[in-house]
Amino acid sequence: MILQVANLDVDYGKARAVSDVSLHVKPGEMLFLVGRNGAGKTTLLKTISGFIRPTAGTIDFDGADIAGLGAEQVALKGMRYVFQDKRVFSQLTVRENIELAAYPAGIRLADAIDTVVGIHPAIAKFLDSKAGGLSGGQRQLLLLGRALIGDPKLLLIDEPTEGLAQGTIREVFEVLDGMKGRLSMVIVEQNLSVVCRLADRVYAMREGRILAELTDPAAIADQAKLETYL
Ligand SMILES: Nc1ncnc2c1ncn2[C@@H]1O[C@H](COP(=O)(O)OP(=O)(O)O)[C@@H](O)[C@H]1O
Ligand SMILES: [Mg+2]
Repeated sequence: MILQVANLDVDYGKARAVSDVSLHVKPGEMLFLVGRNGAGKTTLLKTISGFIRPTAGTIDFDGADIAGLGAEQVALKGMRYVFQDKRVFSQLTVRENIELAAYPAGIRLADAIDTVVGIHPAIAKFLDSKAGGLSGGQRQLLLLGRALIGDPKLLLIDEPTEGLAQGTIREVFEVLDGMKGRLSMVIVEQNLSVVCRLADRVYAMREGRILAELTDPAAIADQAKLETYL
């Protein structure tokens, strides 16, 4: 297993947002996490990636316990989290945004740019644009490409198609499809047509807990069945 989470509890003050969650990710697997707003999906990803400390439970990543580490240390071990809010450095160019990710990873800028442009050639055309002026789809492509800098082993992606137009969702879908098998991924996604076409396995969350695990390809491909878990 590349990731093994056991009996994880996460609290915001007195409110429990993630409750006794156990899950695993296999090497090279594309795992999806579905569930309504407020189910605890973002909290779970932020906790795994070290942005939030759990109240209880263990997080084993690539053979080491990371439950006590902060986000920077977890990133150095080879995990990346792509935030739901699509945050970029708006005042900087796309190239400078890439540079800021390349530097801490010890990667040369030219190599980092190759990695980012490698996921979608269109990115080459807006390298010198201010990141704040990008469309939602362009921003998501930048974020996905940037997350691959330094060759991480596990990528956590929070709602990559949220707020995008249909044609742009297709573009992001194709990029995700192209990344499939290259590394392990956990993707939160409410667009179930994306889930049923890409997922190797699915966990459904409700009220902070894992409600179900779907492993049968026929069940995963059945969008109507997936909808019953929302
Ligand atoms: N920063 C926060 N402070 C307090 N409560 C929060 C915070 N972020 C999320 N919550 C609460 O935790 C629960 C889970 O939220 P979240 O993880 O964002 O769910 P999801 O990503 O599935 O929509 C919700 O009840 C939400 O209101
Ligand atoms: Mg969320």
